[in-house]
Amino acid sequence: MSSEMKPTMRVARTVAAETIEYAEVPVPSPTPGNAVVRVRCVTLCGTDLHIWEDDYATELPIVQGHEFSATIAGLHPEDDGGPLAVGDDVAVSPVSSCGRCYACSIDRPNACAQMSVYGCYDDDGALAEYLLVPLDRARRLPAGLSTDLAPLWEPVSIALQAVTRGRALPGERVLVSGAGPIGLLALVCLKDLGCDVAIADTDSERLELAAVLGAARTLSVAAGFPSVDQRRLLAEWTDGEGPSLVIDATGAPASLASAVDLVAPAGRVVVVGISEREVALSMRALPVKEIDLLGSRNSRHLMDQALDLLARHQDECRSLITHRFAFEELDAAFRTLRGRTGGTGEPGEMRVGKIAIDLPEVLS
Ligand SMILES: NC(=O)c1ccc[n+]([C@@H]2O[C@H](COP(=O)([O-])OP(=O)(O)OC[C@H]3O[C@@H](n4cnc5c(N)ncnc54)[C@H](O)[C@@H]3O)[C@@H](O)[C@H]2O)c1
Ligand SMILES: [Zn+2]
Ligand SMILES: [Zn+2]
Repeated sequence: MSSEMKPTMRVARTVAAETIEYAEVPVPSPTPGNAVVRVRCVTLCGTDLHIWEDDYATELPIVQGHEFSATIAGLHPEDDGGPLAVGDDVAVSPVSSCGRCYACSIDRPNACAQMSVYGCYDDDGALAEYLLVPLDRARRLPAGLSTDLAPLWEPVSIALQAVTRGRALPGERVLVSGAGPIGLLALVCLKDLGCDVAIADTDSERLELAAVLGAARTLSVAAGFPSVDQRRLLAEWTDGEGPSLVIDATGAPASLASAVDLVAPAGRVVVVGISEREVALSMRALPVKEIDLLGSRNSRHLMDQALDLLARHQDECRSLITHRFAFEELDAAFRTLRGRTGGTGEPGEMRVGKIAIDLPEVLS
């Protein structure tokens, strides 16, 4: 039923702003339909930073961590002989939905009105040695995908959702605004589909990485974007039409306004970037160009596709992980995430991209 498990485990609890406390708590027991997994690796994103700073709609204390890989450590006897076995390396969806709200009723649980996300809202997350997870939210890792990279399936699925919402087609010219992890992973998804991608960012290092990852054009964003030259470049690239799909992955209001300005008539604008700020949009461009303006949240039934994409693009995706820390070093990890400093300064290197936390190999 279960491999050798100790009775207690360490969890890292964010108890107040910028304060993580390690605690020893009982290891959960498997229940029917729920496995105990040993967490292997967790990656951090901007949401984790906001929660750690207590600048998010999360009630502290909480155990953070929603992007993770794990190994099945214990199954309930009723689940023995099922599709997943003790020892399997898995990815687990952090999102659970209510099944009753409007979004759930039309099979869009990724936008559930009452969703819970490990380490973000309600449920404790994966910055723990063990976690109890529903088996129907776990997938065995594809062959060749190791646990130290696998947590990236989650941000890949976020990018894939934006690409899917935008109905991207092979050969299409797509502008991605924002070359952070989500924008760069959208680039990887779009390239995989056979699209031609231009990417815009204010940060030249991130643009260099975008070029390495296959962006056909990079646009440096400064006040007054797009400049006359940039507008001409985009027009030349799209036969005077403008990109038929623009994906905003910045969370910057100005980026959404320029997406609406630059998109081709009858084109689509997808908003995956999130911000508390407000944006002014042209009420002329939206109807006159008949733009589809689409929000994108989490991901809808894309777990298998995201794992497959990650498994096929491991080198590109691995280049987004710029720092690794041990479980005991969470304080330094979060400070690095906030500081966005460090790195070697090599050309093309993103100074702080994704930060990975490696859980101990052998639990003591
Ligand atoms: N919708 C969802 O379900 C979901 C899930 C995860 C993250 N997000 C959001 O997606 C966005 C991107 O996430 P990330 O981890 O890549 O964040 P990030 O902050 O690392 O990347 C954002 C990038 O946008 C660039 N940028 C800022 N202003 C810009 C502008 N005006 N024009 C062009 N580029 C600009 C920044 O330099 C940065 O490289 C964030 O807003 C995040 O909150 C949404
Ligand atoms: Zn995240
Ligand atoms: Zn719901």
